[in-house]
Parts: sequence; C-alpha cells; structure tokens
Amino acid sequence: MQENEIPRLGGWSEAELDRAFAAVAREVEKSAASIRSAEDKEQYRLRWLGRRQGRLKAISDAWLKGAPDLDTKKRIGQRFNTLKAEIDRLLELAGAGESGSELDAEAIDITLPGTQRKLGAEHPLIRTWNEIVAVFQRMGYSVGVGPEVETDYYNFESLNFPPGHPARDTQDTLVIVGQERKPLRDRLLMRTHTSPVQIRTMEQQQPPVRIIIPGKVHRNDAADATHYPIFHQVEGLCVDTNITFGDLKGTLDAAMKAFFGSSVKTRFFPSFFPFTEPSADVQISCPFCGGAGCRKCKQSGWIELLGCGMVDPAVFGFVQGKQPGYDPKKVSGFAFGMGIDRIAMMKYGIGDIGLLYSGDLRFLEQFA
Ligand code: PHE
Repeated sequence: MQENEIPRLGGWSEAELDRAFAAVAREVEKSAASIRSAEDKEQYRLRWLGRRQGRLKAISDAWLKGAPDLDTKKRIGQRFNTLKAEIDRLLELAGAGESGSELDAEAIDITLPGTQRKLGAEHPLIRTWNEIVAVFQRMGYSVGVGPEVETDYYNFESLNFPPGHPARDTQDTLVIVGQERKPLRDRLLMRTHTSPVQIRTMEQQQPPVRIIIPGKVHRNDAADATHYPIFHQVEGLCVDTNITFGDLKGTLDAAMKAFFGSSVKTRFFPSFFPFTEPSADVQISCPFCGGAGCRKCKQSGWIELLGCGMVDPAVFGFVQGKQPGYDPKKVSGFAFGMGIDRIAMMKYGIGDIGLLYSGDLRFLEQFA
C-alpha cells in the first residue's frame, strides 16, 4: 500500500470490511514499530490522527462517503473507533518511558551543551569581613555572633548609655513597633552596633576573653554615598588581668599592619564612647599614598578607621551579676569596633555604599 493511498474497499459485507480494516491495522502497527524518538512519535500521531491531514480521517472520509446506508456507516464507524483506540494504545506504549528504552535516552540528550552555572564570587563586603576576621583569628581571637534584633538593655543600657543619655542620639535607632507596654530595657530594636555582643559574650563566659564579632547593624540613616541604613561592623573584646592601653595600641597596630601592609602606621586620638574609658579614635596612615596625600585620604595622609577604648568598669559592673569573674578591681580589658563597609569601599575604590547592597551584577562581576 502506498504511503498516502486510500485502500480500496471491495464491497460492504462484514467479511470485506474485516479484510480492509485488518490491512489498515497492519499498516498502523508496522509504522508504530519504527518509532524511536519523541519526534518520531509526534510524526506518527500527526500521520494517523492529525485532524486535517491524518490518514485515519482521510480513509474514513473516503469509505463513509460511499456507504450505501446508515447501518453500513455505523458498522464502518465502529471499526474506525476500534482502530483509533489501537493507535492511541500504540502511542501510549511508545512513550511509556520504560526505562532503558531508546525514547528515554532521547529525553536526556548528552550531546546538548550543559546548563552553564557561573561560578559565584565572594562579595567585596564579605571578602573584607573574612580578611579582617582572619587577621584577628591569627592573633588568637575566637569569633562570636549575636542577634540583630536586640533589646534596649543590651544595645544601650548595659553599655552604660542610661535612658535619656545624649550619647543614644548619636545612634539613630530603628525600633520594633508595639513595644511600648514593656519596660524600656526589654523593648526590641535593631542593634545599632555590634557592641551588645560584648555583654552577651561576657555573660556567657568567664575571663579571659579574646573575641571578635562581625555582623550587620542598622541605623535610621538616609541613604547617600557614604550612608546606608544597613552596614557592618567588626567588634573586638579582650578581657584579662592586667590588660593595658598599651595592649590595645599594640594589638590594633599589629592588626592594621597585617591587613593593610607592614608600612602602615596608626595614631590614636581621644574620643568618647559611654562603654570605654578612656576612648580613642584610630587613624591609619593612608595605605594608598603612604601618607603623602591622595584622593582616598582626602589629601590628609591619614584615614580614620575605628573606635576603641578600655572597657569602662561600669560595663563590668553590669556583667558581674551573672558572671562574678568580671570584678572591675581584678580584670581589665579593651574593646574596638570598625566599619567593614568603609574599609571595603576604601580598599576596592567603591564610591557609593549603595552598590554593596544593590545586587547589581555589573558591579559584582568586577570582583569575580
Ligand atoms: N560601637 C561603637 C560604634 O558603633 C564603636 C566602638 C566599639 C567603640 C568598641 C569602642 C569600642 O560607634
């Protein structure tokens, strides 16, 4: 039988109909046997069942047209239904997904190029974070974490910012709503610095302590090129017997040299933080121009980098109720805090802090 030829019907008797349908059924089966791929299968379906050009439709149209009466049409129609069911069954079988069949092999075409997964790169902020942490780890510090949603007590009161103290105003605080019915000390806020983790750490462990705490902090700052309501700090705390301001200077000087290069110098200026006494701001000589003056240091030769000081005895006082080891007469310590974002921006020449949080691939790909 030719490909698209309509088989001839020799009469309308049952025997003749049986013969003619059996011939078509053989054709149906024969062509199903050569289905190898999903594409073949679709071809087969179109060839036999296609609404316009399907072979079954063409044959039934031709045969039904010549049928002499309704009864004959009915007998032919029934046979076509059976045939159609057979084609459906064959189609089903061809795609049944028996494992190992050639059709399945087709589903995974190993010759296709793979899905390319681009290798991620460390975000410049996280890279800086890790580098700073590594410097202190090499000096024997362990690494701590604390909650970003903090209580007023840990963020302020225990750090010697009493309620209403003007130093609170320097840290524009984002507070959690619906806290008014709680006592002030229990009210929740977004921590404005990582310093509350100093207290949490001392409450958990006896001196000696040497710990750094990197983390995210929040302040109600309007975003501009150097401010963003989210930024990051690394907190440091060292408590032991006979810790002096000399230890603080030596530690920070060594850390800055490890991070920025051994020719970097540090200098300390008097400052104020409620939880350290005395307090200092630390500047480093500009690592880019060596102190001669350039754009990065605004021609001054120095860059202000962090705040620090000796732990105020009042802070030990807050901890002592839970951990008697922090007797201000017996232990002393220093603490420091630095902004990771600022350091990352300086190091990588990033002019706008917002870029760190934009998720803009054009920016991020530069660090890959
Ligand atoms: N927590 C201070 C700030 O955010 C920085 C600091 C930390 C100062 C530790 C002294 C000691 O500004």
